[in-house]
Amino acid sequence: MENLDQMLSDAAAAFAAAADINALEQAKARFLGKSGSVTELLKGLGKLDAEARKSAGADINRCKRAIEESLEARREELRNAQLEAQLAAEALDVTLPGRGMGRGGLHPVVRIQERVEALFHSIGFEVADGPEIEDDWHNFTSLNTPANHPARSMHDTFYLQNASNVLLRTHTSPVQVRAMHAHVARHKDAERIPDLRVIVPGRVYRVDSDATHSPMFHQLEGLCIGEDISMAGLKGVIIDFLRRFFETDELQVRFRPSFFPFTEPSAEIDFAFMSGPNKGRWLEIAGCGMVHPTVLRNGGFDPQRYTGFAFGMGLDRLTMLRYGVNDLRLFFENDVRFLAQFQD
Ligand code: FA5
Ligand code: MG
Repeated sequence: MENLDQMLSDAAAAFAAAADINALEQAKARFLGKSGSVTELLKGLGKLDAEARKSAGADINRCKRAIEESLEARREELRNAQLEAQLAAEALDVTLPGRGMGRGGLHPVVRIQERVEALFHSIGFEVADGPEIEDDWHNFTSLNTPANHPARSMHDTFYLQNASNVLLRTHTSPVQVRAMHAHVARHKDAERIPDLRVIVPGRVYRVDSDATHSPMFHQLEGLCIGEDISMAGLKGVIIDFLRRFFETDELQVRFRPSFFPFTEPSAEIDFAFMSGPNKGRWLEIAGCGMVHPTVLRNGGFDPQRYTGFAFGMGLDRLTMLRYGVNDLRLFFENDVRFLAQFQD
């Protein structure tokens, strides 16, 4: 039957044209579905007489099987093509070099902090800590800094919204009174309070920004209190520290008279290298002085009996000097190409 051959070749062409399994199922419906052309032919058999029905039925069924085979073949083809596409997409080139795991490291300022801690630890200083969100009392008032002092102004200090007496600490000095209280409480029954020797490394905040000032920076407070602590002790500790930190005796240190409300007398510490590229240039590294009697009293020490020295240095400045970096802001831009240079 000619129209059966035509139907078979139409079906084969429709299956071949189906680009995926979905399209193929739609093409199948056109021939083998409930009202597909093969089904329609089978329905028409009833109208024929017995003899004709027999032979036409056999022909139609043969054609139907041929169409089913052609469908199955195309289905197989499409499945294989899909599998191959998937394999190609997921192909893994095992000969490519590995990407590796980038090695992490410590931030240069943290490395310097650890180095400074080790040096002070070796002469009996312990590490103390305090909150970065501080209250007005610890940051200013306990440190003998009066209400009208310029450091308290909005231009210099980050205050927390809706809480005028809470702020981001502007220096590590507020930990002085905290550390004193803790120490005095620990030795409240002692005949004589043993010497307090602490350093306080940490983040501090000021409304400040240029090559040597960052709105967030790091300080290291030092505090030593006892019955016979003097300015001479302060000088010895600082000069010894700087020599060991920079690994050279070839440096000069000077204590330049200055003012802090919480120390009396007060000084700024400058030093200069006596050789190398920075020879002869004086650099301010810290503020310091003898702890003011009011501060001692606020910390629970009797200023008639105990004296102390304190200093506060810029850890970021120490890091700049140690590594020869001339812009402080580079440390906080988080450019890994810059930071990776400081790993061993
Ligand atoms: C103080 O902050 C005093 N609390 C220091 C002190 C402590 C004096 C104990 C006496 C007794 P000053 O504002 O000078 O002082 O800051 C100390 C050091 O921090 C400076 O010498 C400098 O090294 C560093 N520093 C100050 N401001 C910045 C800043 N914006 N960015 C980076 N480093 C800074
Ligand atoms: Mg200063």
